[in-house]
Parts: sequence; C-alpha cells; structure tokens
Amino acid sequence: MGPWRLLKILTNENSVREPRHRRPEPHLVMAAPDQVAAYTEGGGPTGTLLPLYRLHIERLTTLVSPGDTILDLGCGSGQLLALMAKSFPRCHFVGVDLSTTMLDTAKQICSAAAVQNVEFVHDDLVSLSRIGQRQFDVVSSCLAFHHLPDSASLLTAFFTLDRVLKVGGGVLVSDLGPLRSERTIDLLVDDQRSQQSPLLVEDYEHSLRAAFTMDDWSRAIQNVRKVSLKVDWTSPIHFLVQIHSPRTTSEQPRYQAGNLPDLALKHRFEYFLLSRMMKPRPEEPA
Ligand SMILES: C[S@@+](CC[C@H](N)C(=O)[O-])C[C@H]1O[C@@H](n2cnc3c(N)ncnc32)[C@H](O)[C@@H]1O
Repeated sequence: MGPWRLLKILTNENSVREPRHRRPEPHLVMAAPDQVAAYTEGGGPTGTLLPLYRLHIERLTTLVSPGDTILDLGCGSGQLLALMAKSFPRCHFVGVDLSTTMLDTAKQICSAAAVQNVEFVHDDLVSLSRIGQRQFDVVSSCLAFHHLPDSASLLTAFFTLDRVLKVGGGVLVSDLGPLRSERTIDLLVDDQRSQQSPLLVEDYEHSLRAAFTMDDWSRAIQNVRKVSLKVDWTSPIHFLVQIHSPRTTSEQPRYQAGNLPDLALKHRFEYFLLSRMMKPRPEEPA
C-alpha cells in the first residue's frame, strides 16, 4: 500500500462521527468450490494472507509448549493449519470447520505438505458438540469468528471455547477489527484489486464489513473463565484484533518455532506494518 492511500485511510478513520454498523457475511460457512479455491490460493506460498499467518504463528510461540494439543477453530482450507503444524512439530493439532469443501481441501493441503500431526473434525465452532470438555492446551483461531451471524453466537462460541480449554490453557484469536468508516473499507479493498483474484477481493470486502465491534469482543471474552484474556489491536487503524491469553514468559518464546513462513518481498512491508501497529488495547474506564 502506498503512503498516499495510507494517509487517506488515517484521515477517514479519524474523521468519522458515527461508526458504521456490522454487516454479517452473506456466506456464513464457506462451501462454494470456487470460493474455497480462491481462498486456498490466498493462503498459499505467495498469497496475500501470509503476513497475517506469520503474525499469528509468532504470537503462538509465546503460548505453545512441546507436547501440547492445539485446536484450530474454523481451520478453512488448512493453509495456516499446515504452517502451524510444521512450526510446532511436537504438538498435535485438531482442525474444526463446518464446511466439508474446506475440510476436504485442508486434508489435501496437509497431506501435500507431509504434515502428520493434524486431524480434522466436522463441527460448528459455536457448539463443538463432538468435542469433550478440557481437551486442549491451546485454542487458536484465525479469521473465523467474523463468519458468525451475530454477537449472541460470538458469546456462545467463547463460552464453548472455555469448555474445551484445559485450566490455564492458552488462547489466540486473530480476526478483522472494527473499521469505523465505509470509505476506509473501499480504500482497502481497492488496494487489493491488483493483487488478488476478484473472488478473493469480494470475500475480503464481506469480511471487513462483518468484523465484530470491540463491545462484542469485550462481552464475549467475559465468557472465558479459565484464563484471563487480553485484547490487542492494530493502532491507529483498527484493522486487526488479537484476543490472547497473557504471555507465559516475558522474555523468551515458550516454544522456539521452526519453519516460520518466509515472506515474498511484496509482503514484507505489510507484515512490518501489521507487526509494528499491533498494540495492547487501552483498558476501558471502569
Ligand atoms: C475465512 S476462513 C479462515 C480459514 C483459516 N482459519 C485461515 O485463517 O485461513 C473462515 C472459515 O470458518 C468456517 N466457519 C464459518 N462458520 C463456522 C462455524 N460456525 N463453525 C465452524 N467453522 C465455521 C468457514 O467455513 C471457513 O472455512
């Protein structure tokens, strides 16, 4: 993204008086084969999702220990799941999704990447009816919660997350943040038109509009009792949020991850921006 567009976005976000309203995704579960194929490409080795995937895995290193069992909620086409499984080879991963098209693709992606420490469950992340309580050391999720229809489902999903988490376990949810202005979304989407397939651009636009508000996130995390969750967001443009349990160590990563995704030159600047902008969200006055 050029500096001029960035400046326009900053100006827009700061001048909005009435923040826009959330618009739920038109396709809550991603099942259409062409949509799944476009998304899978976006998460591939040169895809635009790589900077975010890298940010997510880096944060996971502060939460994961060798031997952990890790749940990936809304694993989608498995591109991120395969990268996580390679980065933490001594952990076992369970990917959950409600789309069988996505799960079939994820199985192929993991098999092509020779990843063996992964299994899949077809389930709804809101209820996780096939998963027992206190099964997981870490629950991870990336770009999945904004697919939920409403804030009531988000509340239930975090209640469910707490049910399947072991006491003192780790949590990392990365998702799109609440942009204030419609114009900002138009600018971000336009920026992607030359870099992504039209289907992925359309998907990106729907996702940005479906991002939950900070009030929604704040209420939902109250449903997690086993660990106290913190909220980080990119600032001053709230493009991304990360909901996470606190670092277990202040200095060293808990698990030195191997095989972090390498970024193509064109994505290094985006990664640099995202990682520098990600900051703890200031506490609300009581
Ligand atoms: C945008 S994709 C994210 C995939 C992957 N986590 C990533 O970061 O690339 C969102 C995924 O969440 C899945 N999903 C949406 N609602 C769901 C639900 N209620 N339960 C389980 N999966 C769901 C969709 O089918 C889709 O595969």
